[in-house]
Amino acid sequence: MLMKASLSGTDVKTGSIALHNLQKRYGSATAVDDVSLSISPGEFISLLGPSGSGKTTTLMMIAGFEMPDSGRVLLDDKEITRLPAHRRELGVIFQNYALFPHMTVAENVAYPLRMRRVAKAEREARVHRVLDQVHLGALASRYPHQMSGGQQQRVAIARALAFDPPVLLLDEPLGALDKKLRQHLRNEIKTLHKQVGKTMIYVTHDQEEALAMSDRVAVMHEGRIRQVSAPQDIYRRPADLFVAGFVGEVNLIPVSIRSGVVQGPAGDKLPAAQWPDADRDATLCVRPEHLRIETAAAGTSAGIQGRIVDMTFVGDATILEFQSESGLRLTSKVLNISAKAMPDVGDACLASWAANDATILTQ
Ligand SMILES: Nc1ncnc2c1ncn2[C@@H]1O[C@H](COP(=O)(O)OP(=O)(O)O)[C@@H](O)[C@H]1O
Ligand SMILES: [Mg+2]
Repeated sequence: MLMKASLSGTDVKTGSIALHNLQKRYGSATAVDDVSLSISPGEFISLLGPSGSGKTTTLMMIAGFEMPDSGRVLLDDKEITRLPAHRRELGVIFQNYALFPHMTVAENVAYPLRMRRVAKAEREARVHRVLDQVHLGALASRYPHQMSGGQQQRVAIARALAFDPPVLLLDEPLGALDKKLRQHLRNEIKTLHKQVGKTMIYVTHDQEEALAMSDRVAVMHEGRIRQVSAPQDIYRRPADLFVAGFVGEVNLIPVSIRSGVVQGPAGDKLPAAQWPDADRDATLCVRPEHLRIETAAAGTSAGIQGRIVDMTFVGDATILEFQSESGLRLTSKVLNISAKAMPDVGDACLASWAANDATILTQ
């Protein structure tokens, strides 16, 4: 149905995916634990998490290569939980390019169209179009072994796009490439996403990749989704300590909330904009680029008293290591944009931050 709709050119917006309470166990280990997620047509969403957090298993249940023990998968509001992979019409791209070595680039890309008995003229037109979309038009008659890893992965993307699936599933597609190429290709995939407007579900353990590419990021840990939000919110408003620590660098400061005041380890009042009403212990999170370290001349503003214990120049920034009187270590990242004098190692300083840049977590 979907194929027909898109082949005939009707502009029905397809490609929504809904996961309801997906559960998958291997023996006694739970790989995916009660995962629910709604993905809109055309959305670019990343599943981000450390190795073994259940990203691939989740993607494979959407693709139809794994069956959940319980829960449901819906494509455009139709249940596909038990439908075999080849009847789902979803494009899948893996880390290892999985191209046919004995076929040229054009033949590789044409393959899914042959399988679907698309007529020759239409087939050639499409192969031409998708190869142009991934900037490989000139290399159509090469064989995979005559191409770089980045080019092979672009062929794999073209092959997945060729039959015009409503959804593309990508499992660490840039994982085998070096850093420069990864950055280049991630921009290309992003541009391609804008051009073709397809739903893309992108698995990665690379937080920068997920933040840079996605409309929303779902952070996974131990088979569960811990937070689903826009990249800015994942970074600025992490929902729990796992997300705060996994996505970017973070300073964690043990605090106690007493009578509506957020107190640091030495009992001093700390800047914060929101915190729980009830008295309790919690953790205040502040990013290194938000941590200001100033020589404690006035000494009256809220913050933590201590000293600079180390300083490292890393090119674009200087990393200051700070230690409070109670022994707490904090890191501050200062961009080297002006010749402003830095404090010196050993200087007495006040570490502080804008109230809005702190997140208080209770789990
Ligand atoms: N076929 C399998 N048999 C047994 N255990 C598996 C299998 N596939 C995945 N697992 C286990 O399930 C968990 C999640 O794996 P996976 O989804 O591949 O994680 P990720 O892609 O996030 O690295 C891991 O503990 C992994 O060892
Ligand atoms: Mg994986």
